[in-house]
Amino acid sequence: MSGKWIRPLICPVCAQPLGDYGQTWQCPMGHSFDVAREGYVNLLRRHKKLPGTVGDAPEMLRARREFLARGFYEPLSDVVNEMVATAVADHPAPVIVDVGCGEGYYLRRLAQRLAGQPAALFGVDIAKTAVRLAAKGGGGYGRYLVADVNEQLPFADQSVHMLLNLFAPRHPAEFARLVTPGGLLLVVIPAPDHLQSLREQFALMGIQAEKEAHITAQFAGLFAAQPAQTVRFPLQLDTLSLSWLIQMMPGARHLTPPQQEAIAQSPALETVASFVVLRMMRDA
Ligand SMILES: C[S@@+](CC[C@H](N)C(=O)[O-])C[C@H]1O[C@@H](n2cnc3c(N)ncnc32)[C@H](O)[C@@H]1O
Ligand SMILES: [Zn+2]
Repeated sequence: MSGKWIRPLICPVCAQPLGDYGQTWQCPMGHSFDVAREGYVNLLRRHKKLPGTVGDAPEMLRARREFLARGFYEPLSDVVNEMVATAVADHPAPVIVDVGCGEGYYLRRLAQRLAGQPAALFGVDIAKTAVRLAAKGGGGYGRYLVADVNEQLPFADQSVHMLLNLFAPRHPAEFARLVTPGGLLLVVIPAPDHLQSLREQFALMGIQAEKEAHITAQFAGLFAAQPAQTVRFPLQLDTLSLSWLIQMMPGARHLTPPQQEAIAQSPALETVASFVVLRMMRDA
């Protein structure tokens, strides 16, 4: 291979190392993937036709970008960043992967937090629009890939020191394959009381019951659970921010006209954001 291996990426077709050839990424078997103008690469198996509903729709991504850009979830991002920074502090070249990275907000802020440290950052999402937005706003840090968490992800075995998964689908067996022994997985989910007053006021979808216990059970035997951390803080929302927030929530596609009307007419309000950060260590 004359291109330099983009450690630890592997070809989605044959699992051999993927090399950087500038305009394309290629493996020694000649499988080749174009680098898009914005800098991201589509590593989905080409034969695979995905239903149009897979991944976040462009309007949800826009809502997420607008809402997050206003800094509302900065306290959560700060907690994640400190956990990651502490965990990788002594590592000479950690590989950090955000699976289901969306439009890239958390990875972007993490890159700023780790500035100067030689970490390799990767953002993965199935929605091309998400990855395009993330790559465009990435400021040159990190590499962004289109891939499906339900398939084999394009990373070598035991090559990831820190795997992040925020509000996105999980694949326990695949996560266990990727993470190095002793490496960490951070899974962020909404707590049962997340935006509770808002859910009641506008009759929005509830949080899946027992989500934390369900996830802990999914990863049992693969990762050792460490104490989870709850992150809770108030949100003061003007009408526009409220509407961005509701549009990025699950169920946004199914809002009824009266619900939409109530949101659009709402005065500024206060609610509470509440999250659980699950921390799990890959069994050594
Ligand atoms: C609720 S969003 C969270 C995005 C981001 N982590 C954030 O918090 O801003 C869930 C993300 O998972 C992505 N996703 C859904 N199914 C996926 C799959 N099968 N493989 C990879 N990503 C997927 C969606 O496209 C979306 O960007
Ligand atoms: Zn190949």
